[in-house]
Amino acid sequence: MLSLDNRAELDDLLDDIRDYRSDHPPALSLPPSAYTSPELWQLERERIFSRSWMLVAHVDQIAETGDYVAVSIAGERIVVVRGDDGELRAISPICRHRLMPLVEMGAGRIDSLTCEYHLWRYGLDGRLRGAPHMAGNKDFNASDCRLPQVAVATWNGLVWVNLDRDAEPIGAHLDLAHHEFVNYRLADMVQVESWSDEWNVNWKLVSENGHENYHVLGLHRKSLEPFVPGGGDLDIREYSPWALRLSVPFATPLEAMSLRLNDAQKANLSVLWTFPSSALVAAGERVAWFGFIPLAIDRVQVLGGVLTTPELAADSGATAQTAQFTTEMVNTEDRLGLEAVQRGTSSRFAERGHLSPKEQPGLLAFYRNLARALVGDQQGGR
Ligand code: FES
Ligand SMILES: [Fe+2]
Repeated sequence: MLSLDNRAELDDLLDDIRDYRSDHPPALSLPPSAYTSPELWQLERERIFSRSWMLVAHVDQIAETGDYVAVSIAGERIVVVRGDDGELRAISPICRHRLMPLVEMGAGRIDSLTCEYHLWRYGLDGRLRGAPHMAGNKDFNASDCRLPQVAVATWNGLVWVNLDRDAEPIGAHLDLAHHEFVNYRLADMVQVESWSDEWNVNWKLVSENGHENYHVLGLHRKSLEPFVPGGGDLDIREYSPWALRLSVPFATPLEAMSLRLNDAQKANLSVLWTFPSSALVAAGERVAWFGFIPLAIDRVQVLGGVLTTPELAADSGATAQTAQFTTEMVNTEDRLGLEAVQRGTSSRFAERGHLSPKEQPGLLAFYRNLARALVGDQQGGR
């Protein structure tokens, strides 16, 4: 139960968040408590992460039978695994016997899901295959015993999961932006680099950061500023809350040898954001994907990879060039910057900040989606 004080504080916070839905939203950042309130985090778990699509992998990582990626979405473990029948399934890897998790977070290849506690063994489809010494329990029916499944979808090689089995397909939303991304030939691209990291930061700071290029002026002044200047004007198009395209001009248009990009695609970095915390970043012949998966109120797992065309991947010089784009340096700059901001949010002097016109379009779009998810379309909430 929430104490009265905490309930009143949460209500105040939700009132402030609801204001972003107005036609004249405040050009202000979220209240600092939005990043530290355990009550808001509980609400986000219920209203956002229990029913949103999260980007967790590229199909290259789970191409063969038994390949898996295991994540924890706001505390709920899910393993995405390729079955013997070639199907991808997203399974709850919590043993049906006495609740032991069957895999640790991470990735690899398995031939079954075997519980270390009492050795119950499940197939890659989640069905129980073996349970020692259970024949004497007349109420137990092994053939009915199966690990629960949640929704999984693949869109142009990107693998998404949703804890809500009845969620609307994510592909229908992403397809709304198809014409803007079709020239990148995403479905043909191969993954040449990937990462999994953990950042000590609230997930909303990470999503905000990804909705603006203004921070390139500071955090990425050496790495990205010469290529995608932080003073560039952001253009946004909202196809749906789950398909928001942001673009920012490159300092110099890119040449693309293996893709037929139009002038706008050569001249701009294009980002496709999916609320709450997934993104595709297209820069010429390279596309990076990011899945920011909250582990706790102040911790995020950062999954991602760099994709490129098969032609470029086969070119031996390409790996070195790939390293210039995003990857370690930029990710580290973002991590260090955002972890510092997270510490700032708990200062007793912390207040809401005024937003620059350079960052307003993206941040206000994110806040609007946040408000929609947390307090619904109506003023009275859902
Ligand atoms: S908890 Fe898994 S076999 Fe007992
Ligand atoms: Fe950044």
